[in-house]
Amino acid sequence: MEYKQLEQLLKDMSLEEKVGQMVQLPAGMIAKEGLITGQVDNLHLPKEQKRLIGSVLGLTGAEDLREMQENFMAEHPHHIPLLLMYDVINGMETIFPIPLGQGCTFSPELVEQAARVAAKEATAAGLHVTFSPMLDLVRDARWGRVMESTGEDPYLNAELGKAMVRGYQGSGKGEALDLAKEGNIAGCVKHFAAYGAPLGGREYENVELSERTLREDYFPAYQAAIEEGCVMVMTSFNTLNRIPSSGNKWLMRKVLREEMKFDGLLISDYSAVDEMISHGIAADSREAAKLAILAGVDMDMVSNAYIRYLAELVRSGEVEERLVDDGCMRVLKLKNELGLFENPFKDGSVEKEMEILLCKEHRNLARKMAAKSFVLLKNEKILPLAKEANGTVALIGPYADTVDMFGAWSFPKKPELGVTIKQGMEAKGVVPAVSKGCFIQDEDKQAKVGQKDVYTEEELEFLMKEAVETAKSAETVILCLGEHREYTGEGGSRADITLPKHQLELLHRVAKVNKNIVTVVFSGRPVVISEVVEVSKAVLMVWMPGTEGGNAVADVLYGDVMPEGKLSMCLPRSVGQVPIFYNKFRTGRPNEEGTRVGFIHGYIDESIYPLFPFGYGLTYTDFVYSEVKLSKDTMTKEEAVTATVTVTNTGMRDAVETVQLYLWDVTGSVVRPEKMLKGFQKVSLKAGESKEVSFAITEDMLRFYNIDMEFASEPGRFVAYIGSDSSTKNGAEFRLV
Ligand code: GLC
Repeated sequence: MEYKQLEQLLKDMSLEEKVGQMVQLPAGMIAKEGLITGQVDNLHLPKEQKRLIGSVLGLTGAEDLREMQENFMAEHPHHIPLLLMYDVINGMETIFPIPLGQGCTFSPELVEQAARVAAKEATAAGLHVTFSPMLDLVRDARWGRVMESTGEDPYLNAELGKAMVRGYQGSGKGEALDLAKEGNIAGCVKHFAAYGAPLGGREYENVELSERTLREDYFPAYQAAIEEGCVMVMTSFNTLNRIPSSGNKWLMRKVLREEMKFDGLLISDYSAVDEMISHGIAADSREAAKLAILAGVDMDMVSNAYIRYLAELVRSGEVEERLVDDGCMRVLKLKNELGLFENPFKDGSVEKEMEILLCKEHRNLARKMAAKSFVLLKNEKILPLAKEANGTVALIGPYADTVDMFGAWSFPKKPELGVTIKQGMEAKGVVPAVSKGCFIQDEDKQAKVGQKDVYTEEELEFLMKEAVETAKSAETVILCLGEHREYTGEGGSRADITLPKHQLELLHRVAKVNKNIVTVVFSGRPVVISEVVEVSKAVLMVWMPGTEGGNAVADVLYGDVMPEGKLSMCLPRSVGQVPIFYNKFRTGRPNEEGTRVGFIHGYIDESIYPLFPFGYGLTYTDFVYSEVKLSKDTMTKEEAVTATVTVTNTGMRDAVETVQLYLWDVTGSVVRPEKMLKGFQKVSLKAGESKEVSFAITEDMLRFYNIDMEFASEPGRFVAYIGSDSSTKNGAEFRLV
């Protein structure tokens, strides 16, 4: 539709219709009969209002969505199609690793490909918008939603967020944005802003961050995705410095619209507008509506506010109608960009669904990405295993033979088509002796409904004993442990981030009879696994690997695929260290070893360093780095310095290394982190091969928010580090003059 036609449509719409476009309701409220039923908490809204809404979330399936769209448009006065949205966070039916695992691939290419597959499957299922990428920086493993983030680093999150936007919206390889094109889905950057820094890691908790920290660490990834063309942004639940995001004019009008130049659709999070009442800055839903529209929220996701009160606020003169026109027009424009006025069903097709959901090509990519998301944390020469093992292999633990390796935001309609580790091994001709050993969740700790492994102590003891017997007669034990998916994700904050007690008991009882333990850890967060690492000869962190998890684990354990993942979020030694992150400050009393005590930075009873740092990950060979060579030791703002290392594969196997560049701005007008990731390159090296790896360091990489909050570089000393992870000491000094 031409823009002037949209403008004419806007003119023809009543105020109620324009407000209606700015409302999103759950599909459960717009039933197959075309309109409201009472099955769910339908906000008890009048039917004539619900028939005017602009969007629905939470339903997938080409047939169901087509039927709902048809019924809905028939009832709408101007037959305006619904925007159909859903949370496709790490795949639609073909489930990919959780974003935290995707972060460990350090591969924008792979992340873009996975997003592309997700977009194709989601649009075939009739969807128009996905609520992804989630780009909240995370430093606190207690928070349940770290699984949705690509990690603790602003630069990595920005690179991978841009890749997701390209994959979803089809704007990769510099292609012009054409959301109407088949396979393209609208992305939505979330949650704006800084939802990942709740006090105490507690879900929905207040966030207190200085403007400098926001701008240096938390805003860059959102901004990068917006600059990559992402067409939607979602507000966050949290208060930011005591102002809820959905009513925060500074955050939305100044930072998002004016500074980041975002002119797309801003949607609230689920009921977040009404939640300003309980936050305590709105007396009622009417006031919440006013705060949100003044802050620039274009669409109210599931609350009473806009649908009940926005028209009245305009009629009373408290809100200018142009604000409603602006919001409504952004909704109409997105529908138009998606081609919905010409084709309200977009790519929805039952045939297409049958053809591509979980197709071999998509499964292969999921398998490849899962294997590359795994991080080998320890290997005392026990991996890779030989398929023709002398003696049996015992496969033990609650994750040994289950398909449920999906992240918390995964809703496959056919989860049973996933591949278990047992199946993955058998596909390689290895027939393990399998024992469950225990259940995933300790009975007394099952905080979330619906995941109750109901069992008796006798049943548990039987499982344990059986597992010990299985371990006794095996050459090697593959122990598959991890937290339950429902203990991660939204509402999944935990104060204790160790593994369930029964699983640790199983570990120790098995270790008593067999020392050759390879532990595979499943989690949606950096769990505390110090005991596991101590007792095991090898530890592979696999996060929540998705549909092809079983095949991918077998691929890596048996060396058909080399592990190459690097931690996108560090693993703490204990929950007491959290929040913990590599780009920390030196303080006035630096503690290099991390464990010194006295009047020095740190704890009496714990190191200041994590168990495994950001960027860390082993493989089945070794790499040696030369010293860093610089093209020169001074640079002006107009020049660049090239930092180069030679990396050698000193082992017997070909492998890939993710070479990382970190910078340290030694002295600034404000203190600067002692390391900042500024580049990474994945380098393939054959056994014995050496390669030079270079990074160009340019002045823009040295900029920061100085003492006057200007984004600029400052002359002075810098150190360029190049290494295998963020703990590298391999650096060389240069000056900006
Ligand atoms: C949820 C989440 C958000 C999600 C939305 C729709 O509460 O916070 O990430 O996209 O509601 O499901």
